[in-house]
Amino acid sequence: MAARLDVPRIRKDFPILARTVRDDRPLVYLDSAATSQKPTAVLDAERAFYETSNAAVHRGAHQLAEEATDAYEDARSAIAGFVGARSEDIVFTKNATEGLNLAAYAFSNGTDKSRQGHSIDPRFVVGPGDSIVVTEMEHHANLIPWQELCAKTGAELRWIGVDDDGRLRREDFGLIDATTKAVSVVHQSNILGTLNPVEEIMAQARSVGAVGIVDACQSIPHMSVDVVDLGADLVAWSGHKMLGPTGIGLLWGRTEILEAMPPFLTGGSMIETVFMESSTFAPPPQKFEAGVPMVAQAVGLGAAVRYLEDVGMASIADHEHELTGYALAQLSQLPGVRIIGPTDNVDRGSAISFVVDGLHPHDVGQVLDDRGVAVRVGHHCAWPTCRRFAVPATTRLSTYLYNDTTDIDAAVEGIVAAQEFFGVA
Ligand code: ALA
Repeated sequence: MAARLDVPRIRKDFPILARTVRDDRPLVYLDSAATSQKPTAVLDAERAFYETSNAAVHRGAHQLAEEATDAYEDARSAIAGFVGARSEDIVFTKNATEGLNLAAYAFSNGTDKSRQGHSIDPRFVVGPGDSIVVTEMEHHANLIPWQELCAKTGAELRWIGVDDDGRLRREDFGLIDATTKAVSVVHQSNILGTLNPVEEIMAQARSVGAVGIVDACQSIPHMSVDVVDLGADLVAWSGHKMLGPTGIGLLWGRTEILEAMPPFLTGGSMIETVFMESSTFAPPPQKFEAGVPMVAQAVGLGAAVRYLEDVGMASIADHEHELTGYALAQLSQLPGVRIIGPTDNVDRGSAISFVVDGLHPHDVGQVLDDRGVAVRVGHHCAWPTCRRFAVPATTRLSTYLYNDTTDIDAAVEGIVAAQEFFGVA
């Protein structure tokens, strides 16, 4: 058993948690699946970078450029170490959405170039008769890029369905077959909280020669994840959900896949040689980092992973597991409240979606907000998942290392208050 978290002490590291909202009510922040709050260590690291070493990286021969490049690459090493990867296999992106688009565009750009006679790794050439497999619980960021790829190439989009408990339908895993060129699945659902058996799905992708991609946005911030052990070819996630700044995401790739993949964005810094007629590209990760990158954000994210490592990912995961169990138990006792997603605290994360009989989620969110409780309401960028459960939207609470049971109690009291206010109790 990992050491217990000292939540009151941790909360002191997050200045925003001390503020009040809506008529001086203490802020109860239960929306970390949307974005996490930032500790002082991250804010200080970004500020220190701008105050002392700001320069464009990988260009320039002056001292500031050298220091900025070192800070940027040190951050890459820290992040790589955090997920058990080699630095060279970590690509900085704007966010997870860009990482997933980068993956999907490797196929559409590869297909276009191969049609023009360029020599392209056949794994990135897609056409009619091929299939791409996703799941019915994908965030739009891991659905629409693949829909677009299929629309452009004539490939078929298939999806693994979701059962009534919010788990993937194992009988659909057989959709991954000899026609499949890419399998892209979410590790932990942002709307249902389900933790998916991605190792098994990636093994199946590998067995048919398909490229395997994992959206790890909701898992890497909350539990210890070794990206290599997932068995995927590519893993995308974002920095802002793991205490880092906005504007930075990550894409890890197996060395050989990154080398074979056509680039996404092109321009400065990603090249090897440039002529008027054509260019050749730098090795990864530079091949995927065109333009002056988000250096201060990388530095801030480096500080975030050091902070998480100091606290301990095993302790964070245990704490959140306990808190999730508490929240599921409290919500299950409320009459008229239905959890959308797994109701048992097994293979699930801390994002809990629910609906309240007779109330629109926006009304629930409004009453909670009036009481200082910040949750997310809506379709959570997973509209097909809402349709699957025949709900227009849900209210979702999600926790992190700085939450404790008093936050859950505040949410539960708010739900009861909403039921009383609207007369549905
Ligand atoms: N993807 C984020 C969420 O689930 C924004 O809220």
